[in-house]
Amino acid sequence: MPIETLLTKKLGIRVPVVQGGMMYVGEKGLVAAVSNAGGLGILTGLTPGSPEKLREAIREVRKLTSKPFAVNLTFLPSISPPPYGEYAQVIIDEGVKVAETAGGPAAIPVIKMLKKAGVFVIHKCTAIRHAQAAEKVGVDMLSIDGFECAGHPGEDDIGGLLLLALAARKIKTPYIASGGIGDGRGLAAALALGAQGVNCGTVFMATKESYIHENIKKEMVKADERSTTHIFRTLHKEYSAAKIPSSKQVAQEVVAKERRPGGVQFPEIAPLVSGARGKTVYENGDPDAGVWSSSGVLGLIEDIPSCAELLQRMEQDAERIMLENAKLVKRESKL
Ligand SMILES: Cc1cc2nc3c(=O)[nH]c(=O)nc-3n(C[C@H](O)[C@H](O)[C@H](O)COP(=O)(O)O)c2cc1C
Repeated sequence: MPIETLLTKKLGIRVPVVQGGMMYVGEKGLVAAVSNAGGLGILTGLTPGSPEKLREAIREVRKLTSKPFAVNLTFLPSISPPPYGEYAQVIIDEGVKVAETAGGPAAIPVIKMLKKAGVFVIHKCTAIRHAQAAEKVGVDMLSIDGFECAGHPGEDDIGGLLLLALAARKIKTPYIASGGIGDGRGLAAALALGAQGVNCGTVFMATKESYIHENIKKEMVKADERSTTHIFRTLHKEYSAAKIPSSKQVAQEVVAKERRPGGVQFPEIAPLVSGARGKTVYENGDPDAGVWSSSGVLGLIEDIPSCAELLQRMEQDAERIMLENAKLVKRESKL
C-alpha cells in the first residue's frame, strides 16, 4: 500500500523520501540508486567542481536512471562564491525538473531564475523565519531541517519536533521534514507533524551504493547517537561533524581549540577542516583524515543495506505504524 503525499504526487516518485544534497557524497551512483528505489535522489551541484562538470554528472545520472532526480545548490558565505547563476543555467538547460536549494539570501536570485524556468524548487532551512522568507520568494516546497540534522544546523538550536509543529501552524507552503530521520518510525512521525515526506542524509551514507569507503560505513554502524559533535559554534558557522569512536577525532580537536580561553580564529583551524581533507575520509577510509559530517542518526544505523532495502523498510514500517496508530482512535471510550 503506497503512501501518497503531495511530495510523491508532485514529483512522480513512489516513496516520500528524499536523499538530501551531500557535498562529496551525493554523487551519481547514490542519486540513481535512491531514485531507482522510488525516492528522490539529489545530486550535489557543487561536488563535480564546475558548471560544465555538473552538466556531465547530470548526464551520467541519466544513464543510470530514468526516474526523477534533483540537483542541490548550497549557498554558503564565501569570499569567492561559485558561479551559482551558471550552475543554475546548467540545471535548466539539462532539463532537471527539481532543485534543492539551501542557504541564505544569496539563494534568492537563483531560486527566482529556477522558478522562471519551471523548475520545482525545494528550499531547505533551519528556522521558521527563513522558511517564511523563502515562501515569499515562491518556492514550491520547504525542507524543514531540525537541529538534529547533519550539515549546517543553524544557530537557533530548535529540534525538529518543535520546528515541524511550528511549520504546521505558520507555513502555508507544503514542507518535508529533515534531520534526525533514519527509519520508518521517523517517517511516520514526520507525516503526523504535517510533513509531506522526509529528507535524509546520514542514513544514505551507510548504504551499499554510497561510494564512501567501507571502513567509514563500518565505523558508522559501530557509532551511536552520541558520536557527533558540533564544530564552529564560536565562529557562527555551525557544522555538525562526526566524531567517530576509535579515531583521533579531528572534530574534537577543533572544538577543544574553540573552547580554550580567547577561542580561536578560523585561519588556525582551517587546515584541520578543509573540504579536501574531509573528502579523503570518504576515499581512503581513515576517519581521522579530516572533518566530515553526520548526525545522531548514526544511532539508528545497524547495517549497510541497499537503497532499495532501506526505502522498502522505511515505507513498510511507516505504513504499519500509521495503521496501528489509527487503531488507537476509538469512536467511543469504554472508560
Ligand atoms: C556528509 C554530508 C554532507 C552534506 N552536505 C550538504 C550540502 O552540501 N548541502 C546541503 O544543503 N546539505 C548538506 N548536508 C545535509 C543533508 O542534505 C541533510 O539535510 C541532512 O543530512 C539531514 O539530516 P540527517 O543527516 O540527520 O538525515 C550534508 C549532510 C551530510 C551527512
